[in-house]
Amino acid sequence: MPVTIGEPPRGGHDRPLQMLQDCHRRIERFLDVLRRVAEDRRGGALDADYRDGLEAALDYFAHAAARHTADEEQSLFPRLRARSDDGVRARLDALEADHAEVAPGHDLVEALGRRWLAEGALAPEDASRLAMAVSELRAVYARHIAEEDAEIFPLAEALLAPDELAAVGREMAARRGR
Ligand SMILES: [Fe+2]
Ligand SMILES: [Fe+2]
Repeated sequence: MPVTIGEPPRGGHDRPLQMLQDCHRRIERFLDVLRRVAEDRRGGALDADYRDGLEAALDYFAHAAARHTADEEQSLFPRLRARSDDGVRARLDALEADHAEVAPGHDLVEALGRRWLAEGALAPEDASRLAMAVSELRAVYARHIAEEDAEIFPLAEALLAPDELAAVGREMAARRGR
């Protein structure tokens, strides 16, 4: 099960909204890696491909995914809020609530996934908990990402001035040490 990170990203820091969408594609891919490991192996032995896939997905959500949340909550959403009405602000509040809602699921996946890697197998009840947590994360992200991609980012494109978008891009670059 080779892990594909995806096509070369189309967005650079000069195109922050595209870069955020590229991140969404990586989130979807790594959630699908977690789903495949959990469903195919059900807590059993992992061959090298499954181990590598599981490890890459855990590392992604432990590090890169947190930066994506910060990109939205600290860079994009505050600027969009300043130019939006109450209806849009309420939607941004709900999206931020989603970010908080997925945290316990990520913590559980991290704990069980690392245990699986360390011990080589998971007890059946832990394998079930892992599969359930991944399934719940996929459901939340499917709705959340669809709203951001189809509605929030186009709104940002329409409402934010070029220099505001450029500032978002600079902050995203700084978050990655670039
Ligand atoms: Fe988000
Ligand atoms: Fe997002």
